Amino acid sequence: MKICVIGCGYVGLVSATCFAECGLDVICVDNNAAKIDLLLEGQVPFYEPYLEDLIKKNVDCNSLLFSKDLNAHIADVDAIFLAVGTPMQSDGKADLQYIYSAVEGIRNQLKGYTLIIVKSTVPIGTGDEIERTLLKSVAKENFDVVSNPEFLREGSAISDFMTPDRILVGCENDNSDKIMRDIYASLIANNIPYIKMKRRSAEMAKYAANSFLAMKVSFINEIADLCEATNANVKEVSKAIGYDKRIGNSFLEPGPGYGGSCFPKDVSALINIAHEHGSELRIIEGVKASNNRRKDLLSNRIIKKIKIGNNGDVVSILGVSFKAGTDDVRESPSLSIISNLIDSGVNVKVYDPRAIENYHKIMPDVRTCITLDEAISGADVIVILTEWDEFKNISLSSLKNKMKGNKIFDYRNIFNPETMNKLGFEYYCLGS
Ligand SMILES: NC(=O)c1ccc[n+]([C@@H]2O[C@H](COP(=O)([O-])OP(=O)(O)OC[C@H]3O[C@@H](n4cnc5c(N)ncnc54)[C@H](O)[C@@H]3O)[C@@H](O)[C@H]2O)c1
Repeated sequence: MKICVIGCGYVGLVSATCFAECGLDVICVDNNAAKIDLLLEGQVPFYEPYLEDLIKKNVDCNSLLFSKDLNAHIADVDAIFLAVGTPMQSDGKADLQYIYSAVEGIRNQLKGYTLIIVKSTVPIGTGDEIERTLLKSVAKENFDVVSNPEFLREGSAISDFMTPDRILVGCENDNSDKIMRDIYASLIANNIPYIKMKRRSAEMAKYAANSFLAMKVSFINEIADLCEATNANVKEVSKAIGYDKRIGNSFLEPGPGYGGSCFPKDVSALINIAHEHGSELRIIEGVKASNNRRKDLLSNRIIKKIKIGNNGDVVSILGVSFKAGTDDVRESPSLSIISNLIDSGVNVKVYDPRAIENYHKIMPDVRTCITLDEAISGADVIVILTEWDEFKNISLSSLKNKMKGNKIFDYRNIFNPETMNKLGFEYYCLGS
């Protein structure tokens, strides 16, 4: 089976590599020439654990190929995955320009029967629209459009792809279902559930899943605030409710709010889809408002407790990626929190083990540090925003010695409050 993946981003590149690892012949195409040049030189354009080695292995055995030239390859492939971005527009809707430009790019090039598989997260009905567009130049019997949303998480993308909770396929006929089962044969052989449904249901399921997870994050963040007000402990509460199988124990850790390239945009897109259909999603609208408010709330907690002005405190921010294990800073809560602090006149320096380059690209004027040591040395205040192991493993006694002040705002709850207090830190964490 020969497939083409359009888009060499977090989803496209991981999917292409894993499909090659599963035994398919894969061509991965991107219209960003710099990305393809990097890949052809054996470099990976972003950080994802284990990806570089897996790409090398599959490139070396010729099952994975990279190209800038879509037209050179698509005529002889059995299936084409669309894995381009669907970012948030300023009005909150999903921007589908990359999807439709990719569809335009292929519609006059298809030869024989080709399955078009939408891996990107797209609004309900997009598969129908792609089908209408293709019908302008391709005979009905020469293609099908399938929805196959992706659930991998950055930072654990390879294992998420290889051992997903389920493979979700939205398709409208048996032939496309059969090809999808062939594509995923090695995962299905490993007892990964393959769930087939209507195309529109699959499109909806992806948004519903991400919105539900965002809701869990916002829920525990609000419960954490209430724990603080009532002298309860959110770690204990999370443990108690997480044992309940109906609730489950994941996504119950408080933090600075959800971020990343998916939850914020998918929550906003779903709210817009509901409005367009005269429907209301009051819970999800509440989730969005709660998450936006959280970043201001947590910034204000810092601002209230520190010295601001000419001889004000130096605040060192540890972590800008939206979570550990990735260099992705898209919609990271750190961006808003750091900007809020700077707007209030706080003297800030920023460190992240992987994401500092991406942060510097969007905030070139903010002082960044190359090492953790540089970040903590002389800092009056430390704010932990990402749960990197490098921060968890820091020697607390050397942290105490190197800092000028003693305030720590730990918005990922990575340290033990009693230990921190005993060591003489003024320690603020979440939910206790
Ligand atoms: N990032 C995640 O964790 C994740 C997880 C699940 C689903 N998704 C969804 O997957 C989709 C892709 O997300 P991503 O994070 O990989 O995006 P990304 O921005 O990292 O990558 C998209 C890539 O597509 C390329 N591209 C755009 N138009 C193109 C075209 N016409 N031809 C060839 N290449 C083109 C871009 O240059 C870019 O490299 C989105 O819909 C997203 O919501 C993302």
